[in-house]
Amino acid sequence: MADTKVYQASTTAPVNIAVVKYWGKRDPKLNLPTNSSLSVTLSQSDLRTHTTAACSSTFGPEDTLLLNSSPQDVSGARTQACFRELRTLRSALEASNASLPKLASLPLRIVSENNFPTAAGLASSAAGFAALVRAIANLYELPSSPTELSRIARQGSGSACRSLFGGYVAWEMGANEDGSDSVAVEVAPASHWPTMRALILVVSAEKKGVSSTSGMQITVATSELSKHRFAVVVPKHMEAMKKAIQEKDFETFGKVTMVESNSFHATCLDTFPPIFYMNDVSKAAIRAVEDINTRAGKIIAAYTFDAGPNAVIYYEEENTDAVAGAVKGVLGELDGWEGKEVKVQDTKAIDA
Ligand code: DP6
Repeated sequence: MADTKVYQASTTAPVNIAVVKYWGKRDPKLNLPTNSSLSVTLSQSDLRTHTTAACSSTFGPEDTLLLNSSPQDVSGARTQACFRELRTLRSALEASNASLPKLASLPLRIVSENNFPTAAGLASSAAGFAALVRAIANLYELPSSPTELSRIARQGSGSACRSLFGGYVAWEMGANEDGSDSVAVEVAPASHWPTMRALILVVSAEKKGVSSTSGMQITVATSELSKHRFAVVVPKHMEAMKKAIQEKDFETFGKVTMVESNSFHATCLDTFPPIFYMNDVSKAAIRAVEDINTRAGKIIAAYTFDAGPNAVIYYEEENTDAVAGAVKGVLGELDGWEGKEVKVQDTKAIDA
């Protein structure tokens, strides 16, 4: 009798915010970066994508994906690459064990929900592709490690590979042409530095002007400064950042985070035509952080900005009042997503 059963599995994936930024592809097809990067994974009780993957002979004939109840196009090369890689792994399992149901050939139905505003520019593609890849891996009962899955998620969206882990995560750029060593690895678990906090300042929920994907390609094609960034600046920052995390040295962590963000936005300005992601409110947030640090006589807060105007400010728990007070002083009273304090996510709790 034909198998009409619906097979399904669910998972969640957190958002990560880079402190050493990925900005440039050396191979756009395999999504291989021009430099390594490093991020902090944020608590998924505050920011996460929940995804259910199902397959059945009663679905289809096409694969489908619903995000926050609206149908998404799955025909793009990135989503297709993730589906293809996961199906290949499942087919190999089925070939080695004849008693397994034949899931690899069945149409997929994916349903995803974010618990934060998708349009707010909060790295939703990172959590989105990480959750998609792990939900299908769970559905297919693949024995893959998070690092193996990161190789697949990377092809969906580069930053997604870092959302397979909690804590402090490096995406090592790798050297192989096939991308097999361009994967995410844990630098330290969240429990290593439990006092770390991030304040998310959503200064604008507007959709970004230039997408990361196209912005970074124009940077690689036109910016002289980016060559220096890839060859000299980022390798230095990766090393300093790993050491700062190992030693829980906030001053160095904060300094590198801010210099990194500035270096990334400088290469955006050096891109032709130039790309501006920060606005006047972003600049006011930078000044607020400078004020906090001047008053403290040392670095106790660090800002970082991705491809949009929203700020993430890292600090340690004991400095919560100083940070919140100064930010309020400059930007006014904040509520909800305008100013949210989040903790660092623990890897073990991600799929729980
Ligand atoms: C500025 O991962 O969104 O947030 O691989 O093209 O999907 P694609 O790009 P994406 O770029 C993220 C850029 C960044 C920096 C970072 O997260 O490292």
